[in-house]
Amino acid sequence: MTAHTSIKNTKSLERDRERETSVERSREIIQLRVYRKNPKESKSSRFDRFEVPVQRWTTVLDALLHAKSYLDKSIAIRYSCRMASCGSCGMKINGIPRLACYTKVSEIGGDTITCEPLPNFPIIRDLVGDFSNFFEHHRAMEPFIQNKNADIVDKNNLTEFLQSPEDVENYLQFSYCIKCGLCYSACPSAASDTKFSGPQALAQAYRYFADNRDDATQSRLNIVDNKHGIWRCHFAGSCSVVCPKGVDPALGIQLLRGHLLSFSKNDKRLAESRTRNLGNT
Ligand code: SF4
Ligand code: FES
Repeated sequence: MTAHTSIKNTKSLERDRERETSVERSREIIQLRVYRKNPKESKSSRFDRFEVPVQRWTTVLDALLHAKSYLDKSIAIRYSCRMASCGSCGMKINGIPRLACYTKVSEIGGDTITCEPLPNFPIIRDLVGDFSNFFEHHRAMEPFIQNKNADIVDKNNLTEFLQSPEDVENYLQFSYCIKCGLCYSACPSAASDTKFSGPQALAQAYRYFADNRDDATQSRLNIVDNKHGIWRCHFAGSCSVVCPKGVDPALGIQLLRGHLLSFSKNDKRLAESRTRNLGNT
């Protein structure tokens, strides 16, 4: 071994040792309070407390998985991608709906992290909520492009649907929705009316309404134009504050309302009959 190589090895060993020491220094213990409830066994709930080692980059999901792996394997958590893409790890963390895999313990501050299930979802167990109603509302919006000209009659005569960047811009942010339900859990109207479509579904209604490849414009407006639909939103705006993907459901709802209102102004008779129908529902 030459003298040069030996100096290089010593330096890299020193660097490794420094790195290990700094990792060691950044490790600390936090208190993790986890909401526990099994509705099949009991109506009561409790918080369990776990001491979990964390580092600067530990996420709340990492901390929960540590508790589940080493301290109590019965904790129920739902997660999949661990990269803010699947939308399955939503929960209330220190009082705010967030994605557990996208929230670092260090960014919350304090030495106690409290994890609770998302409000407005029936609890299946511990931190896992039932999304059936939420997905029903989403499905009711017919979340797919509808266009009669797109029906493939003749495979040799396929049509192209060209869109300009401006056309895409009209709906792009709404297409980023990962259906995590955070907006729905933060919505006071959804808390008081389970039939309310909710911010996620209404934002999706706008996403397809604003897409110029879609020609089901009128039927989309009909779907949301009822007292459990677009008019039930009281514009609290909390949906847009908690969305982890930069979607602004409150904006989508207002834009959709604008279209409905201008439509009503131009066709008074239809508006009157709609008002009558709303009174009967
Ligand atoms: S709009 Fe945002 S908060 Fe609501 S479900 Fe979609 S991604 Fe989640
Ligand atoms: S695990 Fe997929 S969004 Fe968090």
